[in-house]
Parts: sequence; C-alpha cells; structure tokens
Amino acid sequence: MPSLNDIRSTFLDYFGRNQHQIVASSPLVPRNDPTLMFTAAGMVQFKNLFTGVEHRDYTRATTAQKCVRAGGKHNDLDNVGYTARHHTFFEMLGNFSFGDYFKEDAIPFAWDLLTKDFGIDASRLLVTVYHTDDEAVEIWKKHAGLSDDRIIRIASDDNFWSAGPTGPCGPCTEIFYDHGDHIPGGPPGSPDEDGDRFIEIWNLVFMQYEQMEDGTRRDLPNKSIDTGMGLERIGALLQGKHDNYDTDLFRALIEASANATNTDPDGPGNVHHRVIADHLRSTSFLMADGVLPSNEGRGYVLRRIMRRAMRHAHLLGAKDPVMHRLVPALVTQMGQPYPELGRAQSMIQETLLSEETRFRQTLERGLRLLDDELGNLPEDASLPGAAAFKLYDTFGFPLDLTQDALREKGRGVDVAGFDAAMAEQKAKARAAWSGSGETADASIWFDLAEKHGVTEFLGYETEQAEGQILALVQDQCVVDSAAAGQTVQIIVNQTPFYAESGGQVGDTGTLKTADGTARITDTRKSADVFIHIAEVTEGTLRKGAGATLTVDHDRRALIRANHSATHLLNEALREVLGDHVAQRGSLNAPDRLRFDFSHTKGLTLEELAQVETRVNAFIRQNDAVSTRIMTPDDARALGAQALFGEKYGDEVRVVSMGRADTGKGTSGDTWSVELCGGTHVSRTGDIGLFVTLGDSASSAGVRRIEALTGAAALEYLMAQDRRLAETALALKSSPGDVPDRLRALLDERKSLQNEVAQLRRDLAMAGGAGQAEQPGAETINGIPFLAQSLSGVTGKDLPGLIDAHKARLGSGAVLLIADAGGKVAVAAGVTDDLTDRISAVDLVRVAVAPMGGKGGGGRPDMAQGGARDAAGAADAIEAAKTLLKG
Ligand code: SER
Repeated sequence: MPSLNDIRSTFLDYFGRNQHQIVASSPLVPRNDPTLMFTAAGMVQFKNLFTGVEHRDYTRATTAQKCVRAGGKHNDLDNVGYTARHHTFFEMLGNFSFGDYFKEDAIPFAWDLLTKDFGIDASRLLVTVYHTDDEAVEIWKKHAGLSDDRIIRIASDDNFWSAGPTGPCGPCTEIFYDHGDHIPGGPPGSPDEDGDRFIEIWNLVFMQYEQMEDGTRRDLPNKSIDTGMGLERIGALLQGKHDNYDTDLFRALIEASANATNTDPDGPGNVHHRVIADHLRSTSFLMADGVLPSNEGRGYVLRRIMRRAMRHAHLLGAKDPVMHRLVPALVTQMGQPYPELGRAQSMIQETLLSEETRFRQTLERGLRLLDDELGNLPEDASLPGAAAFKLYDTFGFPLDLTQDALREKGRGVDVAGFDAAMAEQKAKARAAWSGSGETADASIWFDLAEKHGVTEFLGYETEQAEGQILALVQDQCVVDSAAAGQTVQIIVNQTPFYAESGGQVGDTGTLKTADGTARITDTRKSADVFIHIAEVTEGTLRKGAGATLTVDHDRRALIRANHSATHLLNEALREVLGDHVAQRGSLNAPDRLRFDFSHTKGLTLEELAQVETRVNAFIRQNDAVSTRIMTPDDARALGAQALFGEKYGDEVRVVSMGRADTGKGTSGDTWSVELCGGTHVSRTGDIGLFVTLGDSASSAGVRRIEALTGAAALEYLMAQDRRLAETALALKSSPGDVPDRLRALLDERKSLQNEVAQLRRDLAMAGGAGQAEQPGAETINGIPFLAQSLSGVTGKDLPGLIDAHKARLGSGAVLLIADAGGKVAVAAGVTDDLTDRISAVDLVRVAVAPMGGKGGGGRPDMAQGGARDAAGAADAIEAAKTLLKG
C-alpha cells in the first residue's frame, strides 16, 4: 500500500519525467496576490505566468502545494472533524502548462497517471466537462475510451473554474471515482450528487480567459493548463479507504493524539482526534511559513484554529497542554518533503505550548459560563450575541469555537448580535485608529515590468551608476516629464539604489540628467521594479533621459554596518540562547539596528554581555564577507538561516561571515550563513564596534534587541563613560570605585537619617531648636501654663511632646506651635485635674486664629489644629493666655 509520501513522489516524478519542472511549494502566505489570505490552490504562485505578466525559464511545472482553507474566501474550518474529506490544511498536487500544452495533452497525462501508474480501475472513473466543451468530450472518448454516459456535461460554475472575481479562468473537466453502489449517492449533475458514492478526485482547468475587473473577459495570451488533485483524497482512494482520516499519515497523527491524551483513537473521542490531527497540520505549517498567532488577520485565523484544537484536547480530558507534544509525529510524517517544518520545529512547539498554557487559563471558566447561559435559555434557543461576545472578549473564545461547542448540543449563536457587539467595540476603538491608507494598485508596476523588464540592481558593487529613465509616475499615472517642485516616482533600467526589503531601509541620494536634478528620498520596489521616490529640485526630468544616480554614501555605509551586525547578532543569539531563535523581523537603518526574534524570556545582563562579546569577537576577526548565489536547496544544505515564509526564487543570495574557529561553527568553517538580499560590509572589521541598548518584549514570544555599531556605538559608550567620570568626580572617587563608594554613601545616608530623626525628637523635648534651656511655666489665673513655638518639629511629634510636658508639670496647661515648612501645627494639653476649668480644644481654637487657622479638635486633655502663618505665634500665645485669664 503506497503511503501518502509515496503518492506525492509518484505524482511529481511522473510529471518530472514528462518534462515538467518540479517546483517547490510556495509559502502559505501568498506573495503575489494581496487579495488572498492564504494560498488555497496550486495555481496561486503561477497566477502571473498565466496572464503573461511574468515569465520564467520553464513552461511546464508540477507541484505539491501546501494549501490552507480557513479564513478568507475559502473556509472549510467548520466542517473539519465531522466529515470524511474536509481539511483546513491539505496538499494540492498539480501539473501546469504556461502556453505549452493544452487539453489534448492534459487529459492523457491525467488519465495515464491514474490508470497506469496509480493502477486505478478505469471502469470506476467518470468525468464531467463544461457543457459546451465538445473538444474535451472528444479527447476523453478518444484517449480514455469513455462512453457517452460516463462523460457528463455540466452547465454550472462547477465546471468553469476561476480563482476569484478577477484573474485567469476557464472551463474545466473533473474526474470522479465511483466507490460502488453500496454507498448512497448519484453521479455529478444528478439530484443526489452530494452523496458519498461519486467522489471528485482531480480537476483539470483549461485556462484560457482572464476575468477583468470591468466584468469583461479577455483571451489569455496563451492557452494554459492548471490541474489540482488533493493528495489526501487520492491517498484515501489508493489506500482503499473511504475517509481521508483513515490514511497512513492521518492515522499516525490520530494515534499520537490518542497517546498524548491516553485515550482510544477509535473511541467516542475519535472526532476530537480528527480535529486535532487536522489542526496540528495547519497550525504547524502556518507557523513554519512565518504566521504567528495574533488577534488580527492571518495570525487570528491561526489562533482560532489552535484554540479550536485545544478545546477538543480539553474535551478528551487532557489536563495539560497537548498540541506541542504532537509536533514530532508531524515532523516524522511530513518533515522530509517539507524541511521548513523541521527547521521551525522548536519554535512551533514553543509557540503551541505557550498558547495552550495561556488559553487553558480561561477555557474552563468560559465553558462554565457557556453552560450557565444555556441553562437560562429555553430549549433550542440560540446563544445571545452578547454572551458569545463576552466569551470572545473576556475568555478568548473565537466565535467559531463557541459555535463548534454549541454544535454538539444542536444549538446556534445569534451571529448578528455578536457582530453588533463587536461593531460597537470597534467603533469605540476606531476613533483612535489611523490607517496608513497606502493601498495603491500594484498593477502599474507589473505593467512597467512587462514593458521594460525588471530593474537591474547594481548597488552591491557600486554606489553610483548611469541609468536611463524608463518611466515617470505621478498619482498612479505614467507621465512624460516632471518639473522642479514636483514629487515623482522614477523608474530606471538599472540603479545602485537599494529598495527597502528584508528589513533594510531604502537608499536616498540624487539623480541628475542633462535637464534636471532630483533628490531621491526613498526607494521601494514592487514586482521587482525599483521605485525611486523623488522630488525634482531643478529643471525638468524627462522620460528617456540618461541619468546619473548617486547613493548617499555615508548613510549607506552606516546601513551596511548595521545590516552585517544584524547577521552576527542573529548567530550570537542562537549560540547563547539556543537554536529556537529565529528572526521575526529586523530594521537596518543608518542610525541603529533592531532585531526581533523568537524567544520567550527577557535576556539576563549576563546573556546580553555574552552576545555582545561574541559579536565583537567576530568584528575584530575582520573576516571577509562572502556572498554567493545558489539554489535554495544548496543554501539550506549549507545551514543557511532563512526567513520563514519568505519566497525565494530559483536562485538565492547567501551571505556568509565569520570563521567558526572563533567558536561554534554552523557549517564547515563559516559562522554566520544567511539567505539575504541586503547590502553588507566587505569585512566584518568595517562594523567597528557593536553595543546593544538592551532587550525588550516586541510581542508574545518575540523579543527585540536594539543596537548600535561603529561611531554611534562609540559615541554611546563614551557618553556612558563621561557620565561615570562625572559621577566619580562628584563622589571624589575613581570610576572603578564608584559602585563601592555609592553603596557606602547610601548606607551612611540611611544611618544619618535615623540619627537625625532621633536627634530631632530629643531636641524638641529639650525645648526645640534654637532654645537654649528648658522653658519655664508661668502661672495664669492659678494655672501653670507652658507655651512654646518650635521649629524643626513636625505635627506628628507634638502629641508625644505634650504628654512629656504634662508629666513634667504635674498640673497645668501646655500649648505647642510647630512651624514645619509652610505648615503650622498646633497642639494643646491640659492635665486631668484642670480639664473641668479649661479645655485643650478651646486653647487650640483660640491659638490657631491669629495664625490664619480655623477650628481644631480633640479631647479636653489633648487637642490639635493647623494654621498657615507662624508669624502670628506670639499673638496665638497671647490669645491662649487671655483665655486662661477667663
Ligand atoms: N485551480 C484548480 C483548483 O483549485 C485546479 O488546480 O481546483
């Protein structure tokens, strides 16, 4: 019985033998179609070859294409687990012709592979054709010998394929397999065609039109072929199974799921295992292609799939995270044809583990809330939108997870209500939002690329070059000239200007022609056309003119040093932190570099120091930086670090630097090997110096290091050093002694503070700051009275002092006024034997008044109050005496 891996190889080998180029699957995130969320068919990477916008050096190709149908236009998520043939991730086997062969070859290719190489019983096969396609009918009869009753004409869109509302399209013929009359279902086009007896296995599209935006259809420049056969379906068929999930590959994943959860693979939990097996594939492959879980866009679709799988693991009774434990089984099954999976394995496992750990914290509570809500509803009622929104917002339940949970109970969700709640929340957030607004139509650049060819980049070797102005673009329109004061986008046939990509910013500089000069403020690229964004500073620029292009040298030199340092940093991080470190983004600007990488914890000072030491060691080594062009496979064999999800052409540029004898080597003698299109220093010594500004969190599971090189690094270190020298001077110490001296000073300060507090208390008892002796009491109206105005004492100290004075007097009244920096605290005390004659509260009240205070409170024996102006202290004492006089 052939395995799915065997079947994939047989398919590719068959078409390879028939002069097709075996092309690697493109990433799941399409690079050439901004309307698609994920690659959902084999033809996506070839779209521009069909329309003739792009040309490659082959006209026949075959692929096993990774596809995801979850989110966006193509979405099978809801059905996964419950049906025999739905997947969020699947592989599409296909053969393609770009103006080479057409139907008369495509049909025999397919028929022969199925009936000869795969050995499928021809009598089980039947086909559909588009109702007007007599040609296809004739070929089927002639080549396959099919009788009329096994060639079914279909008038609907089912037999006219298009990728979307615009783009290449054409009639198609589909091949069906009849599983036999023991399974219910009718042939295609019959009323019970949805039954399971006749299963579509292969779709051959005869690409011959392009659907235009205005609704018209134009003929493609060349008639072409696009076919698609799901590997999982043909696999099931060739393994004698009716259900894709019973094939060898899925069986291995289901068993891994059963082992990890200690459950029966075929017991009542089978549906959960199926969901988990499917979602393990889509989530792992998406992450391997650079998608990370997030709360929007592709990242949110990924998170939704993950959480759905995690709920099913929970339903299996799993107490701990499960998904990350299944990744090795997936890598065993699929790591050979898709090496990106193995390369990303540790990152995938880490991400799954942290996502599942996090989601488990709210999963159970959310499910409880869901049960409570359902308990309060009448039988069969849908869950109100507000409850679904709360589950989403507070418990992290994506809507489809809630729907999936309700599905088992035969209930639905009020989706309109959910949407309304969501819209309300978004409306609130929108006020703060400001979009980039930059969604200009890229077709103009494809047009220019087609007309003039792509821009040749000379900037690896030179910073100045001659070029010819091929086009001038203003506001998405091609113009013939641009005059001084105008902004214009300039396209030339060759340029030394680097266009922003791979984290490296675009170059700036000047462009001069005989009649005019422009300042280039940025360089971008689209469809490999370099777009020089320019302001015309003098004269007029004209299409067709020869121009001298000069890159701002100093700025470029700084960018180069930062970019090369980024490569060294990447390798140093992997060495210090581990192989899970993968680049997640970078910025190579003139003034600094920034590097984002997968790692869950903040770096310790020790780790940062190790990283800096390693990078600087390789800078001092001053090794020559080498760049080579090779196939992606050779580059990977060399151990090259590639950006996940980046689409690389047939040839890639490999940048290597550093001799590994300084430490661990990643491949042979070279320390850092990366696929990179950027510009680099010629020797590592040109970087000069490297210093990090510390690390921070960039997003979940991603850290960010910012760093400086060369003169900027030196300036930074010197500024730090200057500050240290100034500190040492102030401390009357030497820089080396600063930490010890500072620690000693801090200790000393602490004990002095304690001492001061104690002294202040003692002093106040002794009569207050500035009083030479113990104050005496005078007797007024037979009452011994002691009044004092103190400084350097706070209101807090007063009650203790009052008590002490009362004890000393034995019998009498005390009034204390404390001037504590802008605030005046007043306290009075009366010994118990006198409280029936005089109240401390009254004493305070009369005393605060001359000092701008009011009120006061307490008991007859002890009262406190506040005032503003200590200048009235003498009047306050007088007022108290007047009161005592009665
Ligand atoms: N593009 C067609 C499909 O996806 C054939 O590959 O079915």
